[in-house]
Amino acid sequence: MSLLQGKTVLLTGASRGIGASIACALAKEGASLTLVAHPHHEQDLKQMCDKVKGCGAKDCHTCCVDFADSKAVQKLADECASKGVDVLINNAGIFGAHHGEELGPLKGNPDDWDRCMQVNALAPMRLIRALTPKMCEKGEGWIINIGDVEAMHEGPHHAAYAASKYALRGFSLSAYEALREHCIRVVDVAPGNVSGTGMAEKSDMHGGQGVITPDDVVQAVMFCFRLSKNAVPQEIVLKAMKAGKAT
Ligand SMILES: NC(=O)c1ccc[n+]([C@@H]2O[C@H](COP(=O)([O-])OP(=O)(O)OC[C@H]3O[C@@H](n4cnc5c(N)ncnc54)[C@H](OP(=O)(O)O)[C@@H]3O)[C@@H](O)[C@H]2O)c1
Repeated sequence: MSLLQGKTVLLTGASRGIGASIACALAKEGASLTLVAHPHHEQDLKQMCDKVKGCGAKDCHTCCVDFADSKAVQKLADECASKGVDVLINNAGIFGAHHGEELGPLKGNPDDWDRCMQVNALAPMRLIRALTPKMCEKGEGWIINIGDVEAMHEGPHHAAYAASKYALRGFSLSAYEALREHCIRVVDVAPGNVSGTGMAEKSDMHGGQGVITPDDVVQAVMFCFRLSKNAVPQEIVLKAMKAGKAT
């Protein structure tokens, strides 16, 4: 039987990049999907929905929400909570300001920090808070947060992005402990630089190049579902194998 047959999945940031690759893998395993992205890319998300149906998704719906808008995120969270979700994958994320410019102690506009924190940390936290009670009732569930190795070591650039991923990681690790007794498995997947995504193109850190691929992140996510019910990886850290250059 397929890994996710009969399971409903809410996947954020599904219009492109890592999220689009995860969506296809989930579809191949027979999941029913709700795909979320920013309202600016409604058309891309609809195309993605058609694609995952072609890949084998049992069902697919789309939802366009700006994660910087906490009221809109709460509305999405409430709607999904009323239906119930088996798997939440918090993948949507932004690197910082609109064009990838640095946001840190020496550069950038602090008003942009709010957006970074909202999209990368507060929106996922809001979704987790809304969706876990029903998972607890059911006695099972998965929450997979796509973090970043930036939340594990301090680099000199992109401090606001790092801060947002530290926040997400902190919530994820704490939620892991809080939800274990309810058989809800919470995982922080933390990749280094990933090539070929919108974020990689924007970020001067990546220079458009990277040695981890979106498919590597997909493999890390799908690995979780192959484990027995008793096992959960609290964190999966994916680093690049480039001598002397691993992030
Ligand atoms: N690429 C890397 O090197 C790398 C490394 C480590 C971790 N990550 C993490 O991996 C995740 C995916 O990144 P990616 O590289 O695939 O980036 P990407 O290609 O830029 O995709 C980002 C996704 O997030 C969505 N999103 C962005 N802002 C949003 C908002 N305000 N409201 C709703 N959705 C929004 C985008 O939707 P739209 O298309 O509609 O804008 C898109 O689907 C992020 O959490 C990122 O931090 C990436």
